[in-house]
Amino acid sequence: MIGLFDHLARPFLRKLDPETAHGLAIRALRLTPLPRAAADDEKLRVEAFGLTFPNPVGLAAGFDKHAEVIDPLLRLGFGFVEAGGVTPRPQPGNPRPRLFRLDPDEGIINRFGFNSDGADAAAQRLAARAGAGGIVGINLGSNKDTLDRAADYVACVAALAPHVSFLTVNISSPNTAGLRNLQQASALDDLLARVIAARDRAAETGGRKPLLLKVAPDLTLAELDDVVGIARRYRIDGMIVGNTTLTRPNLRDRITSIEQGGLSGRPLFALSTRMLAETYVRAEGAFPLIGVGGIDSGAAAFAKIKAGASLIQLYSGLVFRGIGLVATIKKELLDFMRIGRLDSLADAVGRDAAAVTAEQWPA
Ligand SMILES: Cc1cc2nc3c(=O)[nH]c(=O)nc-3n(C[C@H](O)[C@H](O)[C@H](O)COP(=O)(O)O)c2cc1C
Repeated sequence: MIGLFDHLARPFLRKLDPETAHGLAIRALRLTPLPRAAADDEKLRVEAFGLTFPNPVGLAAGFDKHAEVIDPLLRLGFGFVEAGGVTPRPQPGNPRPRLFRLDPDEGIINRFGFNSDGADAAAQRLAARAGAGGIVGINLGSNKDTLDRAADYVACVAALAPHVSFLTVNISSPNTAGLRNLQQASALDDLLARVIAARDRAAETGGRKPLLLKVAPDLTLAELDDVVGIARRYRIDGMIVGNTTLTRPNLRDRITSIEQGGLSGRPLFALSTRMLAETYVRAEGAFPLIGVGGIDSGAAAFAKIKAGASLIQLYSGLVFRGIGLVATIKKELLDFMRIGRLDSLADAVGRDAAAVTAEQWPA
């Protein structure tokens, strides 16, 4: 069924303007009665942040920004889905066009700028699926015109924590002016103090929800020292490494690559994997990491795990490889486990991290 969907729909979708194609994909997911993917092999199970993931392959934030198709996405076989980014108040985001495909590079540039239906709309949709199961996180952002960014994250935590399995504080989207400054030490210190207090308040009624921090792959290593140090001090539950990059590493599509925005997909793999390994060696096991950026095969997913990821997420790979990619990655991970005689993926996490940090900086 999924193979058929990929075979019929993808050539058609790829001829359309990328944002129109994305809208159609969301509609198709909403309307197509997809069968549930086969149950996962128990060897793929991962324990992290106090949650048990049936498999380590998650959908990254930005695909289901408005929390509209979470259950169809879980049925495709993802081990978890991160919906959002969501802002407290609804906002339209940047003018179109704001999504670009770099076909020869298998990359994507986006400058959506947090187009969001707002936290209340997302909370309603999440509440409507209460009891449906699956691990569902929500990615939190801030409104463009806000005067107090930390207050926006606090408002999102209050509205959304009761309805999700985990919360991601996204301070790394490159398309909202000033947002990435929250990664600077003093701003991050203030932000985490307030967001954790909000999470703990929400815990009194809805249970304690893990709080993850999503960072940019463009941090300097000195900045990463600060971010990991502060994250450890506040005992956050995990980090996601990372978001899209403002760099333009070795792109073939020289026309589209000059578009402003964050680059994702295959050209992001080397940089994001390096930053993942750099984060792993700094975290020293204090919390687990989610590796994301340019994963389009089982080998790429396994490389992320060996660089330090307990779980992985992907988005752009789906655009170029289709939704069959999820099953392919799971099968190939099992193959790697068999070859390496691993009983659990946890045994491979971070195995190559030190070696990756010793390599030349990716071009
Ligand atoms: C169109 C698009 C929208 C995105 N929106 C968000 C977002 O709202 N919040 C966020 O944290 N990351 C967002 N991302 C980043 C992805 O979650 C992911 O970190 C990044 O694309 C790298 O993974 P990939 O190479 O597998 O796509 C977006 C990415 C794309 C392509």
